[in-house]
Amino acid sequence: MKEQQKKGRIVTGMRPTGKLHLGHYLGVLKNMVKLQDEYECFFFVADWHALTTKYNSTADLKENVRNIVLDWLAAGIDPEKANIYIQSHVLPTAELHIYLSMITPQNWVERDPTLKDLVKMIKNNDDGSRPDVSYGFLGYPVLMSADILCFNVDYVPVGIDQVAHIEITRDIARRFNNIYKTDLFKEAKPLLTNTPMLKGVDGQKMGKSFHNDIKISDDEETTTKTVMKAITDRARARKDDPGNPQNCEVAFEYWKAFASEEKIKQVQEECIAGKRGCVDCKRELAACINEELRSIRERRKYYEQHPEIVDEIIRQGDENARKATAEILEKVRAVVGMYD
Ligand code: TRP
Ligand code: SF4
Repeated sequence: MKEQQKKGRIVTGMRPTGKLHLGHYLGVLKNMVKLQDEYECFFFVADWHALTTKYNSTADLKENVRNIVLDWLAAGIDPEKANIYIQSHVLPTAELHIYLSMITPQNWVERDPTLKDLVKMIKNNDDGSRPDVSYGFLGYPVLMSADILCFNVDYVPVGIDQVAHIEITRDIARRFNNIYKTDLFKEAKPLLTNTPMLKGVDGQKMGKSFHNDIKISDDEETTTKTVMKAITDRARARKDDPGNPQNCEVAFEYWKAFASEEKIKQVQEECIAGKRGCVDCKRELAACINEELRSIRERRKYYEQHPEIVDEIIRQGDENARKATAEILEKVRAVVGMYD
């Protein structure tokens, strides 16, 4: 689709915290893949945001950035359609962050509810260290506002946990416009998906630190092993007891997320009739998940084996992002009244 025919521009970022799992795939990546046909897209790896909590453990930062890009490409983000870039390669974002930090009242950042969750994470650094909450960390929502406003987008695809940040972005945009008597910044709206969050195999929140996740990059055997650990109907003792898919906490949720309507119905009926043992059921489920991921995993392998192609995709994305943001920053400088 030609740029002009697209519905507008969007930007979204992800912190490089490690390889992505099926929760990311269903909740975020599939949506990004869909959106790339409809919008002019800028998708970036938020490596500066990683520093807000991990400034003292950067040993795996580069690798984590690379893995996000590989997972995105594997999932089907098409560099012909969407721009993939690295936040720290696009300096106009940092410049805008300075202007926005001047006009953002201190209490707006201090009351940001999402930061409270992140503070908990700071205490859980992998190496057991407990860094303090820094000045840069408090600026998390301001930096995020800069990410969004430096493209002046209409929409920001995010998970529900990020909506508070988009609210601050809108507040900051409005305040900037008021202070400098301009209508430069649009008030970006969140684009939410209604995919429910996929649980980890143990029924808790899916995440690598809980060892309950299935990674896009896992091999089939690892995936099968993990799926076999999925919680089922806890009330069911023997395999020919009638089961209740509604009480099957994790396995049936995965069936619903990955299988066709028809297949889901079959699993449900056989489970209720006591004709389906949980072990066999999960083995079949693992095969179904592996099937869905096969082409994605092949694509990931391809990009792993062709690093120069990935480098070029990022270089091009960086360049396009720099160009788009530089245009907006020129206007920002003029509106603020900087010496030119
Ligand atoms: N804060 C987001 C997260 O933790 C990542 C992010 C940074 C982001 N800047 C952004 C998302 C701008 C959307 C737009 O997931
Ligand atoms: Fe869940 Fe399948 Fe066991 Fe039924 S048979 S309880 S759906 S794992």
